[in-house]
Amino acid sequence: PRNEFVTELMAKMTVDEKIAQLVQFTADGTTTGPKSGDNFIEQIKKGNVGSILNATGVEYTRKLQELNMANSRLKIPLLFGYDVIHGYRTVFPINLGESASWDPALAELSSKVAAAEAAASGIHWTFAPMVDIARDPRWGRVSEGSGEDTYLGIQLAIARVKGFQGADLSAVNTILACTKHFAAYGAAEAGRDYNTVDMSERVLRETYLPPFKATVDAGVRTFMTSFNEISGVPATGSKFLLRDILKGEWKFDGFVVTDYTAINELIPHGFAKDSIHAGELSLKAGVDMDMVGGIYLKSLKKLLAEGKVTEAQINDACRRILEAKYDLGLFEDPYRYNDVKREKQEIYKKEYLDAALTVANKSMVLLKNSNNVLPLKKEQRVAFVGPLVSDEWNIIGSWAATGDRNGYAVSVEEGVKKIISDKSKISFTKGIEIVDQRRDMMKAALDAASTADVIVAVMGEFENMTGEAASRTVIDLPGIQKEFLAELKKLGKPVVLVLMNGRPLTLSWENGNMDAILEAWFPGTMGGDAIAQTLYGINNPSGKLPITFPRTLGQVPIYYNHKNTGRPYLGSKDPEQKYKSRYIDSDNSPLYPFGYGLSYTTFEYSNLKISSKELTANGTVKVTVDVANTGNFDGEEIVQLYIQDEVGSVTRPVRELKGFKKTALKKGEKKTVEFDIKPDDLRFYNIDMQFVAEPGDFKVFVGGSSDAGLTTEFMLVK
Ligand code: IFM
Repeated sequence: PRNEFVTELMAKMTVDEKIAQLVQFTADGTTTGPKSGDNFIEQIKKGNVGSILNATGVEYTRKLQELNMANSRLKIPLLFGYDVIHGYRTVFPINLGESASWDPALAELSSKVAAAEAAASGIHWTFAPMVDIARDPRWGRVSEGSGEDTYLGIQLAIARVKGFQGADLSAVNTILACTKHFAAYGAAEAGRDYNTVDMSERVLRETYLPPFKATVDAGVRTFMTSFNEISGVPATGSKFLLRDILKGEWKFDGFVVTDYTAINELIPHGFAKDSIHAGELSLKAGVDMDMVGGIYLKSLKKLLAEGKVTEAQINDACRRILEAKYDLGLFEDPYRYNDVKREKQEIYKKEYLDAALTVANKSMVLLKNSNNVLPLKKEQRVAFVGPLVSDEWNIIGSWAATGDRNGYAVSVEEGVKKIISDKSKISFTKGIEIVDQRRDMMKAALDAASTADVIVAVMGEFENMTGEAASRTVIDLPGIQKEFLAELKKLGKPVVLVLMNGRPLTLSWENGNMDAILEAWFPGTMGGDAIAQTLYGINNPSGKLPITFPRTLGQVPIYYNHKNTGRPYLGSKDPEQKYKSRYIDSDNSPLYPFGYGLSYTTFEYSNLKISSKELTANGTVKVTVDVANTGNFDGEEIVQLYIQDEVGSVTRPVRELKGFKKTALKKGEKKTVEFDIKPDDLRFYNIDMQFVAEPGDFKVFVGGSSDAGLTTEFMLVK
């Protein structure tokens, strides 16, 4: 029925009406690029618009839809798109934080909640998940993705698509997902946003593209191009990416939207000579919808008349967009997402806030905990200090949709006060600002800290120091926060550092001088509760880093699955210290490796076994390991399995994540954790660019981080 419906509708459509479907305008002044100058209301009235960006709320979207329905001859409903990135009203931890949970079920849950709230508020389409692999912490947008690893990224990307889209797009609590940014945006040179990317096709296909492909297989309905060029071709004009790979090889049948004014940007890229040329290149490359730039509206009819694009190309784009509208049920009822009562009922439901708290708790990563200073004890006198201690604005993170920053958001102070009723045990004094260098408030905080048993400093970045257009050349704690920490340390009390930030920071000094460090990311609406519950041991932290934390910025890019080189450095015990692939002024190793994270309890790994030393073409080897909770708390451990393909027709990384299992262990409990390895898990792009597993020797590593020490091996036989 969908095909017939769309075919019949398109038979009635003029070329202008088809082009209109390919056009999106923004409804508000918010812009993440140059303003197009087009008045979207006028454009709707003229019937020139297929989609609207950044209109939210049942009443407002209804008003715009009515305007469109009254003016569009064929009554084709508008599609409302909005960046619902880590929650709509109820805000979950930033995506990088959520990824630290290594828990696809939770990523699915948070996307489901976000979709339900957004759909109840007139939204049909989110621009998420962002699946860019990112290995450069200077790039502000590492906060929006799943971190540095392809395997972990795939699992989370699939989960998020499922969460947003559900099983039935026409249901009133699901929305279209959009996989972005296609492609390799995370590899921008020097971590500078929008910058050039140059990489081999092998790295592109092996490291950067798989999470994108996984979402196509999971049924994602839309894709967004990226701003960057790849090896000389801007992604938005790349036929190779959009037509050959995405729509060709992967058979993607949804539609492709630009990232904002990316078509216009083909001109400064030096790829298109003017806007008409930019329109031509984009449509031919496979871009279906022009976000905000206004170029398709101006160029396509002219290009068609000149024979530079074909009606078939316009039809194909139009069909893809109409199909999405059909699947959402908009032709049946353009106002199906515009129910005022439902909007009120859906927003900030108790179960949604509970879900946000769970995800925030599971995203906490304990980086250091000397002498078990954490968890805090209720009877201790604790001085909470630092610029983020009472903060409700930054805690929900950047790009937090319509999340309430000054009402629903729970600060650390509020969270702690819910747990500690004896107010004489706790104090809250900011002391300093995040960036501002003023020192006049510091003394009050130091005075408060001097009378406490334990000091907790809540510090980090401003939320807007991460996200789009927020690259940094220094990734230390900003401002005078380190200076303040040094003053606190002088008091001779244990100091716990709680961090809110959207990227790896360089924390070598903090690691050397603080007693405990808790990475809380920007934990969302319920963030203050989650931090307080973690500090006081109501939640035992179980998160693991989804991205490497360097010792120093000079090590960047640094990631666990690097190559060995011809002169691998074996560390300080290496008899050869010179002429090895190393730095003379720093270790090669990171401060905290990928996959790392402590718990209040301890886990011991033993008895690593493999079912066979040989893996056959259709076979499976089973890897088992015993994990015991040897500490004093119940806890969860994310057990990780890595492999190394020892010799290949092209060189292989020193380790690659191939499996992980979150395992709950009661105090004193021991469990056997199992992993299967199949030949398909060992595939890579060989010397002839075939995606195959090559027979030979493989090492297996199992443990609680990418440094996992237990090892065994097997051979893949022909
Ligand atoms: O979805 C975003 C994208 O990630 C960055 N540029 C703007 C888009 C729409 O707001």
